[in-house]
Amino acid sequence: MTISEENMDFIPALLAPYKMSNFSLSHRIVLAPMSRLRSYNFLAQPHAILYYSQRTTQGGFLIGEASGVSETAQGYLNTPGIWTQQQVEAWKPIVDAVHKKGGIFFCQLWHAGRASDNCFQPDGQPPISCTDKPIQAKTHIDGVTEASFPAPRRLTTHEITQVVNDFRKAARNAMQAGFDGVEIHGANGYLIDQFLKDQVNDRTDEYGGSLENRCRFPLQVVEAVADEIGADRVGIRLSPFADYNDCADSNPEALGLYMAQSLNKYGILYCHMIEPRMITQFESQKTKNSLLPMRKAFKGTFIVAGGYNREEGNEVVAKGGADLVAFGRLFLANPDLPRRFELNAVLNKYDRNTFYTQNPVVGYTDYPFLDPTP
Ligand SMILES: Cc1cc2nc3c(=O)[nH]c(=O)nc-3n(C[C@H](O)[C@H](O)[C@H](O)COP(=O)(O)O)c2cc1C
Repeated sequence: MTISEENMDFIPALLAPYKMSNFSLSHRIVLAPMSRLRSYNFLAQPHAILYYSQRTTQGGFLIGEASGVSETAQGYLNTPGIWTQQQVEAWKPIVDAVHKKGGIFFCQLWHAGRASDNCFQPDGQPPISCTDKPIQAKTHIDGVTEASFPAPRRLTTHEITQVVNDFRKAARNAMQAGFDGVEIHGANGYLIDQFLKDQVNDRTDEYGGSLENRCRFPLQVVEAVADEIGADRVGIRLSPFADYNDCADSNPEALGLYMAQSLNKYGILYCHMIEPRMITQFESQKTKNSLLPMRKAFKGTFIVAGGYNREEGNEVVAKGGADLVAFGRLFLANPDLPRRFELNAVLNKYDRNTFYTQNPVVGYTDYPFLDPTP
């Protein structure tokens, strides 16, 4: 829906309701998926109940942090998993708390691929990928923390089918945990993105080479997950223009467009894309590149993310560039972000030093609300 410019003064576009297929959203301000590294032993923790419920509004849409789909999926310490029954049970009270406040909550399904280390892998094995070339980047995805990545092991054609099945099982688990749906993490240089991008994918079988071949595994994941839980509960996140984790493509526009068009075949709920201006996960730059061709090509709900503030969020929705806008750092630091946007109130500043620390309170659930009783 496009909101006319003259109405913008009365209802800011971000605050207009939106029907996302079966889900009735009361506004368009989405909690972006954010790993907070506080899920000790790969288990979602009770302190996440408060964190997510603080950020829940009646009819608000939240995307959970990246959750590993199998024992080879993890790439960092203390990220949650969704492949064991114990992990499913750990998520349940968190999902319940979000539902009690009327939120709609999706689980982000993640496989790190080569952006991992032997220490996170079963029996200290190398991480898996479409390639055996290691990440050359000397920093983690945040563009700051030092990193050195081991050489991955190239998956066989047969093993790729098994990884597709891991995503399918993880989607089933997420539904069992009570989530309303899942977002497939196809962005930011992790496994799915490694297959998509021609600067990483050097395969010579049906999963490498042409655009069609590089998109085969990602689309097989989409198909399997949609088949398992229903297409109207499935979204995907993509970052065709980004090169995080040393994962770039020579023609990102063609890649993004091909994916947007191909996704229509599966009738999934939404496509969530990172803006081309995000040169690292946290820095924005001016660019002529745009997500508009992909927005126009994709038939479902289109979500954008990356560097948005209130004004730009209102503008992109009002002009029809997106249906919803996901906010990362602003939502991290402002648990009542929709309320603050409604009032055009001052925002808390985020503290980058505590993004990825393990404290269950500090930098996690201690950002203040505007009103003392939320
Ligand atoms: C602490 C932190 C953790 C993040 N973890 C994830 C993640 O698990 N999955 C993901 O797709 N993106 C992740 N991101 C990226 C955000 O979803 C978002 O795309 C990015 O922060 C840019 O949006 P912003 O400018 O609104 O913060 C993370 C960002 C931050 C700040």
